[in-house]
Amino acid sequence: MRRVAPWFLSLPLLFGCGEEAAPSGENYGNLLESPAGLVLIPEEHPSGWGRADCFFCHPAHKLHVVNRTGIADLDLGFVRSVVRQRGEASCAACHGDNGVGR
Ligand code: HEC
Ligand code: HEC
Repeated sequence: MRRVAPWFLSLPLLFGCGEEAAPSGENYGNLLESPAGLVLIPEEHPSGWGRADCFFCHPAHKLHVVNRTGIADLDLGFVRSVVRQRGEASCAACHGDNGVGR
């Protein structure tokens, strides 16, 4: 009998993290729909709350590559250049202090 791999085996490829992530970068949907908008709150960041080493889990080259906000004139090129110049020190300006207190 021919066995076909169940459809759900392909899900990790679609939603996986780390190296398997699609070239379109990380995807957490439209950030502006969450309670505090761009600013992180513990409830929406259970895995990363309180940590300052953002790039450990969010490699810079996978960030800010797809506009999911619905804001037509959002300048992601500007966001990427700020991150390129200021690194992890830049994140808090737009995403809040992530419970790090800086
Ligand atoms: C230990 C890994 C880890 C670290 C460190 C980390 N994050 Fe995250 N981040 C995640 C994960 C996983 C998610 C998806 C939501 C979740 O499960 O917490 C996420 C989601 C996000 C989101 C999307 C939130 C939303 O509205 O859906 C933003 C923005 C974000 N992180 C920014 C940051 C910033 C800025 C830092 C550093 C100050 C940081 N992260 C540190 C793992 C991490
Ligand atoms: C100038 C403002 C700004 C800065 C600085 C900034 N971000 Fe963002 N970030 C945004 C915006 C706006 C979005 C929503 C992007 C979208 O939907 O296209 C976003 C989205 C994200 C997401 C969700 C995935 C994605 O790419 O859309 C993560 C994760 C994230 N930022 C992490 C970071 C980390 C880590 C830093 C610091 C290294 C950082 N951001 C610095 C404005 C900023």
